[in-house]
Amino acid sequence: MDQMLKEAVALVTGAAGAIGKGIAADFCREGAKVFITDLDPKAVDAAVAEIKAGGGQCAGLAADVTDERGVQAVVEAAKKAFGGRIDVLVNVAGIVGQGKVEDLTADEWDRIFAVNCKGTFFFIKHVVPAMKAHKRGKIINFSSKSGKTGSALMCHYSAAKGAIIGLTQALAFELAGDGITVNCLCPGIVENTGVWSHVSSGYIKNLKMPRDEVVKKFTSKVPLARLASIADIVAVTRFLASEGADYMTGQAINVTGGREMH
Ligand code: NAI
Repeated sequence: MDQMLKEAVALVTGAAGAIGKGIAADFCREGAKVFITDLDPKAVDAAVAEIKAGGGQCAGLAADVTDERGVQAVVEAAKKAFGGRIDVLVNVAGIVGQGKVEDLTADEWDRIFAVNCKGTFFFIKHVVPAMKAHKRGKIINFSSKSGKTGSALMCHYSAAKGAIIGLTQALAFELAGDGITVNCLCPGIVENTGVWSHVSSGYIKNLKMPRDEVVKKFTSKVPLARLASIADIVAVTRFLASEGADYMTGQAINVTGGREMH
């Protein structure tokens, strides 16, 4: 058990979703006090109940990450719930879309950027003052394999996830003097998640292939010959939130079974 995480207050966005809930539950089991947020109040309440059932302290509040006032309300509620501190921020909330570039609308482009990028920016903006006050903090953002090497039929998502890497690097420079590290994860395909369910359905339609062929096609690109599990992503997130990662900042960590190597 990591001492830093054991004593930490963590805020996790997108935590009614597959990866976010996995991270929040893991941090709770490690002893952290975890505040979660997601879009739908009922989904947030259900996730809080589920996480607490696994042991640990968890509370939550729903908000749309693209609404700055809602984000501020979540940050204030998290501070109020757990003694004024936020030591770890994990920006998991994200959406994906699929389509040929000539078919994508301006609204689809803007929505992908709003949720993935502006939402991440808003949470960092409003959490950083609490981290600066304690001269310590760990910010972990969610990019993607698509942010390193773009994915066909997902140019808006790939561009937005590339932007997350730029944001991560800029803030790693900017916040280093305040004891705050900023890193991001670049996962490959993660099984049993909302994003993969959406993307695989898109490929079935756009590539005109049955689901098992789609899974085979993408698994064959992975040197370790399997897709990621939620546990694979949770483990690396836990490490980035731990004391063991104190000397890492500005990194975009591939968790892709070897599919990305740069
Ligand atoms: P998911 O769809 O299971 O969960 C995402 C959560 O974000 C959902 O609960 C959703 O309600 C929430 N959300 C969406 N829009 C929101 C908004 N406007 N305000 C607040 N919450 C909002 O997604 P999954 O698969 O767990 O992915 C999590 C993160 O990991 C995303 O950022 C995704 O882009 C990234 N990622 C996922 C991969 C995968 O294969 N699942 C691969 C690479 C990156």
